[in-house]
Amino acid sequence: MSGFRAVEWTGEAVRLLDQRRLPTEETYHDYTDPEAVAVAIEQMVVRGAPAIGVTAAYGVALAARRWAGATAAEFRSAMESVFERFARTRPTAVNLFWALDRMRRAAQGAPDPARAAEALEVEARAIEAEDLEACRAMGRLGAELLTDPATVLTHCNAGALATAGYGTALGVIRAAAEAGKRVRVLADETRPFLQGARLTAWELRKDGIPVTLITDGMAGYRMKRGGVDAVVVGADRITRSGDVANKIGTYTLAVLAREHGVPFYVAAPLSTVDFELSSGDEIPIEERDPAEVTHCGGTRVAPEGVEVWNPAFDVTPARLVTAIVTERGVARPPYTESLDALRR
Ligand code: MRU
Repeated sequence: MSGFRAVEWTGEAVRLLDQRRLPTEETYHDYTDPEAVAVAIEQMVVRGAPAIGVTAAYGVALAARRWAGATAAEFRSAMESVFERFARTRPTAVNLFWALDRMRRAAQGAPDPARAAEALEVEARAIEAEDLEACRAMGRLGAELLTDPATVLTHCNAGALATAGYGTALGVIRAAAEAGKRVRVLADETRPFLQGARLTAWELRKDGIPVTLITDGMAGYRMKRGGVDAVVVGADRITRSGDVANKIGTYTLAVLAREHGVPFYVAAPLSTVDFELSSGDEIPIEERDPAEVTHCGGTRVAPEGVEVWNPAFDVTPARLVTAIVTERGVARPPYTESLDALRR
């Protein structure tokens, strides 16, 4: 288990590891103000679909504490605004909406605001604990898919930093290493926010798992040379048909993997599957600040005034996905049937 937590409940506050400052500084902030937690999600102090869900749940629990002494009507109206605020933070990761739904339901049965606040804290803790458990289960199942030795290419950061701990894609890699498999990682730097270079490389080096950093454009040549045994990535939202939204650049890797006969695996908890959606075209894709593209590490790398397009995610069609590893089992095509079977 990694010696850090992206999100932690102190009993009084939500503690977040500031991922904007990694890898050079390991800084933690304690939040007691729900609005500050929402801003932290928007500004990517914390990021990664499951970690966003856990953090929002604690943000709601903090708000409920504040309003625990109010009348039932005041409490309901205040909490409705809090739910709406968190729902506006990041649109693509469905774990956020899944966690908010769970929190909404947890408050419903409570007889008064004080008891609702208690129930919400209990529910937030449960969401965190279940995510950690799901990551470990995915790790065990996914590790079996990897060869020994294996060189695994991953994109963005789907690790302990992106979850309650252990990670989804990096959970698979961790579990393989724990099982004694000789696993090496190729980490895409992941422009523009550099989650691969800053976060995945940091996290794996901390755990002593061999990692080689490459720029996103190097992945195809590396596959062509025959040095990649599998691609393993996380997901922000998966439709019931198996289309996968994940960090921008994931689709490119899936196309390259197909061209070079490399298996393309997605590791994600069932809370990432949006059973309401049947096509990836329906997934809302977040567009972020152009400055993420025009600048790198705070330095301008593009001319003033240039037009920029900055979608944070792309969608990989199900036909390019070899298997989806969930905590309940490994889904194979056709996903409409296999994901639905795992849901029950
Ligand atoms: O913009 P980010 O850093 O939140 O994007 C994160 C990803 O794309 C991850 O791959 C995904 O959330 C899965 S995290 C287990």
